[in-house]
Amino acid sequence: MTADPSEWSGAEAAATAARLRRHPPLPRCGGRWLAWCALAAGTALMAGCGSGGGGDHNESTPALDPALVTQGKDVFRYDTFGDETQWTDTLKMDQVISAAVDPTTALSVGLKVDSQALPAAVVQGIKDGSVDLKSPDTTIALLKLNAVLGLKGTVETINGKDVLTRVGTTCALCHSTVDDSFAPGIGKRLDGWPNRDLDPGAIIALSPALSAVQKAVYNSWGPGKYDPRFNQDGLNGPQVIPPAYGLLGLHSIITTGDGTDLAYWNRYVGVTQMGGHGTFVDPRIGTRGVSVTNGTDDLITAKLPALQEYQLSLAAPPPPAGSFDPAAAQRGRVVFNGSGTCATCHSGPLLTDGNSRLHPVSETVGEPEAPGVPSWVARSATKMYRTTPLAGIWQHPPYFHNGSAPTLAAVVERYNMRKALGLSPAEMADLTEYLKSL
Ligand code: HEC
Ligand code: HEC
Repeated sequence: MTADPSEWSGAEAAATAARLRRHPPLPRCGGRWLAWCALAAGTALMAGCGSGGGGDHNESTPALDPALVTQGKDVFRYDTFGDETQWTDTLKMDQVISAAVDPTTALSVGLKVDSQALPAAVVQGIKDGSVDLKSPDTTIALLKLNAVLGLKGTVETINGKDVLTRVGTTCALCHSTVDDSFAPGIGKRLDGWPNRDLDPGAIIALSPALSAVQKAVYNSWGPGKYDPRFNQDGLNGPQVIPPAYGLLGLHSIITTGDGTDLAYWNRYVGVTQMGGHGTFVDPRIGTRGVSVTNGTDDLITAKLPALQEYQLSLAAPPPPAGSFDPAAAQRGRVVFNGSGTCATCHSGPLLTDGNSRLHPVSETVGEPEAPGVPSWVARSATKMYRTTPLAGIWQHPPYFHNGSAPTLAAVVERYNMRKALGLSPAEMADLTEYLKSL
């Protein structure tokens, strides 16, 4: 293993290296970073810690283990942790897909297809129309090719016909999309990008195993949103699906900072939401705590280190060329650090103070929730909000945990009003350009 990110192989590693070069002083092995560095060294996260080759021997470049990253990519994309128990045995999604989900329907609920998993003949068939995008059999063929992001199917040949016998979900369902390079919804994978077209509620609501009341809740969420507590506390307040990139160096996980590492949340989602086999316990959550065990085996714990390593390797995507006005962004940066007071919370290389503190609802502007929607923090472990890191923010509107601000301009307007900042229209426009540049 090499401590030099530029020597890693793979596009993700290259992107991470590029990002680290843009934000070099991550983190210091000393002072308040000491405990983290010691911990990280033990998990091979920071092999170069304390012996970085740069001028300041106190600074180091976090190094990820490339073998673990590669292993974690496989887990992220293809591992169900045995959650077929939930999606097949309980929810009967194999039957739903086989009977009614042709590729056109699948794409319309935001499912994405990995064009690189398609053999040339299938690509040609889609182009010339000989592959029937209105037949569920084509969906089964795509599942057999492992080409539908976040869905893992077991396809067996029975009496000469391909039959979908098991189906499960993976992390890629919600936290991957494609670049649409082949067609809308079909292209190369973009791991870590939130799938804001995906309508997880509408997909789950297709299950014949649910009551009308449950279906109504699932159908109320809409694209890009998911409530990862509904099946635990029975309350309904969906969250925007966030990115899984740009998190290297942050030790406060999810909007409410419930965990200190990604593995905490990966275990939560893997067990309680996906239905993977294993155990998750946290008595702090909501008013009753959460304690779930699925199966008698544990198909999650051993995979968590690699899964976390892979996510940490995912860099936030830089803004597209020409997508913001650099001069205005430069002025906006001054507002961000000055009269906008943004940097009092959005501080440090990741533009968050999440490693040192959380904020009570009264300090934030993402609540109150819409009428009838329960407070999100009340359903969390900490009852507080973490300042959101902002790298790649241009990529994933709408904003705030509940998606209540449709654009970055709306975010700035909200802060200006709620915090009585008194920013002029020109300052607000500059600040918006700065946010677009991150
Ligand atoms: C059904 C959709 C869905 C699936 C599947 C899913 N997640 Fe999430 N994920 C969410 C939602 C919604 C949140 C927002 C929770 C919050 O921040 O309060 C989230 C949050 C996250 C975050 C953000 C962490 C942060 O601190 O900003 C990461 C990283 C993440 N998930 C990784 C994963 C991994 C790894 C898996 C597979 C084990 C997974 N997710 C499966 C919906 C999903
Ligand atoms: C008191 C601390 C604090 C200050 C000051 C602050 N923020 Fe935030 N910021 C937060 C928290 C906490 C959140 C998450 C709120 C939520 O999701 O409901 C957040 C969320 C955001 C988001 C949405 C991120 C996303 O992915 O949805 C943006 C953009 C943002 N802030 C920009 C700013 C700007 C611009 C300013 C200055 C005008 C500012 N913030 C001032 C704490 C702060």
